[in-house]
Amino acid sequence: MSHHDENVFAAVGDSAVDLQQKQRAIERRARSRVRGLNHHAYYSADAATTRHFYEDILEMPMTIALRIPEEVFTGRAAPYCHFFFEMGDGSSIAFFDYPDVFDGKPPFEVSTVYHHHIAINVDSDESIEYFRQRLEKEGYPSTFVDHGAFHSLYVRDPNGMNLELCYSPPETEDFFLRAERVARDELDKWAAKRG
Ligand SMILES: [Fe+2]
Repeated sequence: MSHHDENVFAAVGDSAVDLQQKQRAIERRARSRVRGLNHHAYYSADAATTRHFYEDILEMPMTIALRIPEEVFTGRAAPYCHFFFEMGDGSSIAFFDYPDVFDGKPPFEVSTVYHHHIAINVDSDESIEYFRQRLEKEGYPSTFVDHGAFHSLYVRDPNGMNLELCYSPPETEDFFLRAERVARDELDKWAAKRG
């Protein structure tokens, strides 16, 4: 054990667990407008290879594969595939296979507020608007996108990290169950077309 570790453990100590504190933590989490990780989205050099890595090796089922004909933010005709791999708590690791914007070998350099982002669940549309106003007031302009099945607010944090605050209404679950049935077929169609 290093000096640093010793100091850290010394500061934390080994006093008995305070059950009232534990209860306060449970209540604090229940009150939070921010419910947890929805997805982390990163670049993909190739959808088929990425699918094999996550679905076949890491056993994370691909639950959705979206073939999108144009950029969400600019409307520019630049087809891409956005696909998600599920973890045990329902959150996902997602990717963009976006040949028009970043192709070739990692690490990827191009980044808009959409590319490479972390999405966190918020508890309501009201919370999206609440945070939009708070961010605006603090000098962080954000972009709202109604994806249909869910609603998202995209913002860049002070470190340059892209953040998506996302609210999924109850009916979103059915959308994802339907999406899951066609995910592999959609990704294969994308891979075939991409060549
Ligand atoms: Fe996202």
